Amino acid sequence: MRQRRVTITGTGGQLGSALQRRFGADWVIDRIARPETDICDWPAVRTRIAHFLPDLVIHAAAATDVDLCETQPDTAFRINALGTRNVAHAAASVGAELVYVSTNYVFDGEKPAPYHEFDVVRPISVYGASKLAGEQEARGALARCHIVRTAWLYAPSGRNFALTMARLMTERDRLTVVADQFGNPTSADDLAGAIAEIVTNAPYGVHHAVNAGSASWYEWAVAIAQLLERQVVIEPIPASAWGRPARPPANGVLTSLSLPTAGIELPDWRDALVRTLRS
Ligand SMILES: NC(=O)c1ccc[n+]([C@@H]2O[C@H](COP(=O)([O-])OP(=O)(O)OC[C@H]3O[C@@H](n4cnc5c(N)ncnc54)[C@H](OP(=O)(O)O)[C@@H]3O)[C@@H](O)[C@H]2O)c1
Repeated sequence: MRQRRVTITGTGGQLGSALQRRFGADWVIDRIARPETDICDWPAVRTRIAHFLPDLVIHAAAATDVDLCETQPDTAFRINALGTRNVAHAAASVGAELVYVSTNYVFDGEKPAPYHEFDVVRPISVYGASKLAGEQEARGALARCHIVRTAWLYAPSGRNFALTMARLMTERDRLTVVADQFGNPTSADDLAGAIAEIVTNAPYGVHHAVNAGSASWYEWAVAIAQLLERQVVIEPIPASAWGRPARPPANGVLTSLSLPTAGIELPDWRDALVRTLRS
């Protein structure tokens, strides 16, 4: 039997790396990453996917620095919207299905409860708007499409809050961390596993895939300090005290109506933290 084929974009990133670990055993993988292939280069993307003929394309590449997106909106939309248009149309042209990885930043954060898949989107940052434009491009290009929204991703390597905190806790006696923004710390490995299950078991559509439970940045930092047994004073501060270009949603917590109906469940974020930081 022909082995299934998957094109993964952003393979140098946190999720792209985890997807390669998860899909490597059963699938033949083609990796799309800079500098070899830029997703903004339509002829390059189309040719690459036409030659490989994947059954599935998982689009994890993105401009993910939310503050940089805020100050460079053209770059954000070029990569997150136009790049997604390219990847999605290339997938459609060979009859592949698509997974587009999106974000909790599509919401405004004003809902007093976790956001499910059918809540109204209203991004309040350039990053969120450009990722939402990517969702629209993906859905417009092909019907066989999963939009997988996630939040607060981290992995044993890469640029992420957990590793930054772990490092700062060795360098400083005292840290200030935002306590009035909330999300779901989510392990890239657990998300990659969920994506594999979604592809197999879920109907096409929007899915919220995050580790179970939620936290503020402050609560996440305290959990990291406890796990690593760091004697550091962590002071909670309001987001307003930490000036940054982009405005994250105050409530960025996601929940899922769709995944439980497909029998898909992600572990609690505290279990994932132990596995990730001790790996
Ligand atoms: N990180 C989070 O907290 C978070 C939360 C919610 C959703 N997401 C979404 O989850 C997905 C994966 O995030 P991540 O944390 O794994 O991101 P990441 O570690 O920043 O990786 C993103 C990858 O995309 C690549 N890329 C960027 N622009 C590209 C281009 N024009 N052509 C080809 N590759 C390009 C980057 O390559 P370079 O190294 O060359 O820049 C990088 O390897 C993204 O879609 C992101 O929007 C992330």
